[in-house]
Parts: sequence; C-alpha cells; structure tokens
Amino acid sequence: MTDTKIKCDGTPAGHGRCMMSRRRFMLYSSTAAAAASTISLSLLPGSAQAATQKARVIGYPRKLIAKVSQLKNNKPLDFNYPDDHVSAMCMLVKMGGVQAGGGVGKKEDIVAYSYLCTHQGGPMHNTYKVTDEHRTLGPCPLHLSLYDLRRHGIIVSGQAYESLPQVLLEVDGDDIYAVGMLGLIFGRNKNLMDTQEA
Ligand code: FES
Repeated sequence: MTDTKIKCDGTPAGHGRCMMSRRRFMLYSSTAAAAASTISLSLLPGSAQAATQKARVIGYPRKLIAKVSQLKNNKPLDFNYPDDHVSAMCMLVKMGGVQAGGGVGKKEDIVAYSYLCTHQGGPMHNTYKVTDEHRTLGPCPLHLSLYDLRRHGIIVSGQAYESLPQVLLEVDGDDIYAVGMLGLIFGRNKNLMDTQEA
C-alpha cells in the first residue's frame, strides 16, 4: 500500500502541501485510523487543566471483496460493507472499460456502491444498466431515482437529493479491497455502527 505522507509546516510554501482531494483524505483517514487504534491527545495545552488523554480511533475495515480476474464486464457482484447488517448491502461492478470517478483497475472502471437509495432506502438490486457510454443504478423501485456510477453516484433524476454512497476501493495484485465509504448509508447516523470511544 502507498505510504501517504502529509507535510504542513505552517509556511506559505508548506500550505500547499496540506491540500489533498476529498477522496485522498477519505482514503488516508480511513486506512490510517484503522492502523493506529490508539492516539494521545493533548487537551488545553499550557493551562492548569492540561492533560494528555488516550483516545481510541476506529476506522473502516479493509475487507477483501473480490478478485479482478473473476469480474465479468457489467455483471455486478453483491457484498456487504462495512459490516454484515442488512443496510450494508453493496454492489461491485467492472463497467466494461468505462472510466469512473473513484474507479480502480487498469482502466479505472471498477466501482462499488451501496444498494440503498438515499431517498427512502429503496433496494436497487438488479437495476444496474448499460446504455451506450452511460452506467447507472436505478431507477429505484419506490420513486424512480437514478444514479450515475461514472460520476461518484450523483443523481441523474428522481426524488433523491444525495449521491449514492460509494465504496472506496484498493487493488493489490488481483485482490480488490473495500477500504472506506463516501457518503452516509441510508438509515444510519454514522456508517460505522459499532464504533465507540474507549
Ligand atoms: S426510495 Fe428511492 S426514490 Fe424514493
């Protein structure tokens, strides 16, 4: 895995090095948090109440979900992420060479998304569709929302007003791992249901 280093030294030159894309931030924060489960925090430095507290940080799991070699073009595979709850139903698909935002693989055409519509949680299994260069999930069986899988799951049409949560992927050799999520899974107030501060 890539060793991600971020330098921010407070100088004007250093300022630019603090910048990173949202996707890169999500990747960094999820994997780094999973790797370092305990950190020290200095609270109220310089004051009489100054203290160092231990805080437990829990990140997204890194879960093996498929092999690149087993994927067939435009044939979705089902999996659960980030846990096994019924609301964690997701799909992985290789979109036949059509490059996508957040796509992995040689052609950046492998993506993964939650199956649950962001409007009222309509299940969108078996709604993946190829139309010319377009790759969509939907229409949702409840109120017909349609999502664009090439562009981070943004809404094409319908009642929903939030993008479909996208599963962040990494490829290591032939293995495809889920490592995080962009967006909130329908019905949850946080994606990681079991996380607690120690
Ligand atoms: S639940 Fe999907 S559009 Fe309403």
